Amino acid sequence: MSELAGARILITGASGRIGTVTSKHLTASGALVTALSSSVNESLVADRIIIGDATREDDVAEAMDGADFVVHLAALAHRTAGTPYAVYSTNVVSTFNVLAQAGERGIERVVVAGSINSYGLPQNDHPLLPAYFPLDTDIPIDLSDWYSLSKRNDENAARMAWRHWGINVVTLRFPHVNSAEELAKISGKIRDDPESGIREGWSYLDTRDAARSIELSLTARTTGAHAFFLAANNTNSPYRTEDLLRRYAPDVPRLRRFVEREVPIDLTPARKLIGFQAAHELDIPTLDLP
Ligand SMILES: NC(=O)c1ccc[n+]([C@@H]2O[C@H](COP(=O)([O-])OP(=O)(O)OC[C@H]3O[C@@H](n4cnc5c(N)ncnc54)[C@H](O)[C@@H]3O)[C@@H](O)[C@H]2O)c1
Repeated sequence: MSELAGARILITGASGRIGTVTSKHLTASGALVTALSSSVNESLVADRIIIGDATREDDVAEAMDGADFVVHLAALAHRTAGTPYAVYSTNVVSTFNVLAQAGERGIERVVVAGSINSYGLPQNDHPLLPAYFPLDTDIPIDLSDWYSLSKRNDENAARMAWRHWGINVVTLRFPHVNSAEELAKISGKIRDDPESGIREGWSYLDTRDAARSIELSLTARTTGAHAFFLAANNTNSPYRTEDLLRRYAPDVPRLRRFVEREVPIDLTPARKLIGFQAAHELDIPTLDLP
């Protein structure tokens, strides 16, 4: 029996790619899901569905009624998902609104969808490479777009919410998250253009693993506000990580050696803080870099 059985969980953005799978996953673990989303999705499984706007105080107040936990996924999920103003304001206002209302009500734990983009390089306009590999929580940031800035600011909002309301927040810095079929297609593109994946460390996460990482964050015993990377253990590239880094980032320091297709991201916080280890890996053969 899951610890979440009988708990009411508000999921914002529940009709999205990650939200749909997460709503189903948490419902299967016995939770009562309240879904808040600006759009409807026929395959959404939830106990209560509210069509509303996460930036609006009254919509979030209605959706948060009776909630024991909150999972905040609602966002414009890419820099091109709207105007710069729409992307930035939707993301930071909705996150603040959700955290502030959860804090005022004494809700003890919120999980927020962060992003690998919060370090700024994956969508950066300049041809920058990370300061070192593996990417970790101390990696220097360089922001040149409003989506990445919004995700970085969400992490600051979470820290503020912890200091003010004492609310525990886990911000999951997701890499590209998708179904196994879509991830396999992306892997094919990366095989043809390996360099294109470098600033994300060729990372990915299956949507089912994203849903499980959210469940683990809800039941974790962490206190305070934590933000960390998570990803599948192996890259979406068929080539060995050491070979890729030697070819495409010869001047970037490597703090350790990577074994075969090991993802060059520090996954230790995900393991230690929420006990997460990906269960769904791409099944691709390892090849020699041509
Ligand atoms: N999928 C990825 O690869 C990925 C990677 C990193 C981070 N993330 C983050 O994870 C979260 C979920 O991503 P996704 O891929 O499921 O995105 P998605 O676009 O599929 O889903 C987002 C959902 O939020 C809803 N939404 C948007 N603005 C809203 C608002 N103001 N009020 C209420 N609902 C609103 C949309 O209707 C949609 O259902 C986002 O915060 C995104 O930034 C996703």
